[in-house]
Amino acid sequence: MQQGNYKDKGGSEMDGREEDDLFELSSPYSLQNIGNTISKLTSTFCDDAEDEEDDIDNSFAFQIDRSLLIDPRLVLVDKMIGEGSYSTVHEGFYKLKPVAVKIIQPSNTSAVTRDHKERFQREVLLLSRMNHENVVKFIGASVEPTMMIVTELMKGETLQKYLWSVRPKRLDLKLSISLALDISRAMEYLHANGIIHRDLKPSNLLLTEDRMQIKLADFGLAREEAMGGMTCEAGTYRWMAPELYSRDPLPVGAKKHYDHKVDVYSFSIVLWELLTNKAPFKGRDNVTVAYAAAKNERPSVESLPGDIVSLLQSCWAEDPKIRPEFKEITGSLTNFLQNLCSTETTPPKIVSMDYSESHVQEDSIDAGHVPNKADDKGKKQKTSSTFFSCFDDCLSD
Ligand SMILES: Nc1ncnc2c1ncn2[C@@H]1O[C@H](COP(=O)(O)OP(=O)(O)OP(=O)(O)O)[C@@H](O)[C@H]1O
Ligand SMILES: [Mg+2]
Repeated sequence: MQQGNYKDKGGSEMDGREEDDLFELSSPYSLQNIGNTISKLTSTFCDDAEDEEDDIDNSFAFQIDRSLLIDPRLVLVDKMIGEGSYSTVHEGFYKLKPVAVKIIQPSNTSAVTRDHKERFQREVLLLSRMNHENVVKFIGASVEPTMMIVTELMKGETLQKYLWSVRPKRLDLKLSISLALDISRAMEYLHANGIIHRDLKPSNLLLTEDRMQIKLADFGLAREEAMGGMTCEAGTYRWMAPELYSRDPLPVGAKKHYDHKVDVYSFSIVLWELLTNKAPFKGRDNVTVAYAAAKNERPSVESLPGDIVSLLQSCWAEDPKIRPEFKEITGSLTNFLQNLCSTETTPPKIVSMDYSESHVQEDSIDAGHVPNKADDKGKKQKTSSTFFSCFDDCLSD
């Protein structure tokens, strides 16, 4: 089996990635140097945090049902298509079908840290339980000689790369809402099953080849929600809910409490990116982003449609209790999309639009294709959208 070249660095999607997007919460980190407003961000796995030196633990016994394991000799690994903080991801074949193969690094199981073994096991167990059209499909996993997770291959790459490829243009509004609906439905499903994703961001959202559908991936930080709240910080600053860091210094050993609403906050930032195609808190380093979010600063909603602004504002509310459940978000987005569709009068064609400038541009980017989910109840249609006649109304909000 061919193994990928692992570059030891945190963060995924290095190619073209903005520098300030790179920092991930993968090591203990303190924000006290910017004042005591935010007390402390601990490691991504503060429940499990251990010193790096004694992390290699070959006594770790995997508890993964045999039915989830596949014979690694049947997996062919080809070129690398992505990498994350603890893995490389490759195109490959399993039983002659194209798949994605996530190889935990180092590729030799005995050299993998205990933390990463636990993370891998959790990812396998949670992902294998998922069965939803907007969640990447689990095919199987292997633990020896290499820890890997085989999933369906998503040929449209990540939402992050797609947004970069379209910049500085925005996505078609209907496409944005349609993709946001996919995410919301996936999250609704997760929460209904008591799972918090904790790392919802564009590099963990994968597109189908036609870029009409999104599937949620990377369950490496996902957890089952515990009764009485969670006590661990996780995620990536830019998309991380402010309650994950404290305004007041915590007593030594104390941990923050949070619940599934942290995913709603992350979703709001992703939705904002889908609508604006800008980098959230652009040009600021991650510490400043965390500081600003904790001070209740949010990205600008200027020139966004009024209905969506209220949805965004409720989703990124400081008080998690005010944030809606994904069931409600799905309802709001469906209504919004239905309204867009019902006010559309011109025949569809591929266009891009910049709704801050109020003009239409022909565009070679395939951003105009959008499934009319509101009308077809989830069945995808290859209809391309247009500059909506209702758009001027939206602008006046
Ligand atoms: N099923 C898939 N199909 C296509 N590409 C994929 C697939 N799964 C992962 N990728 C690519 O690999 C990258 C890393 O995958 P993933 O996020 O699962 O790894 P990770 O090591 O857990 O990353 P992180 O740094 O977010 O913790 C993704 O951003 C994406 O580019
Ligand atoms: Mg990832």
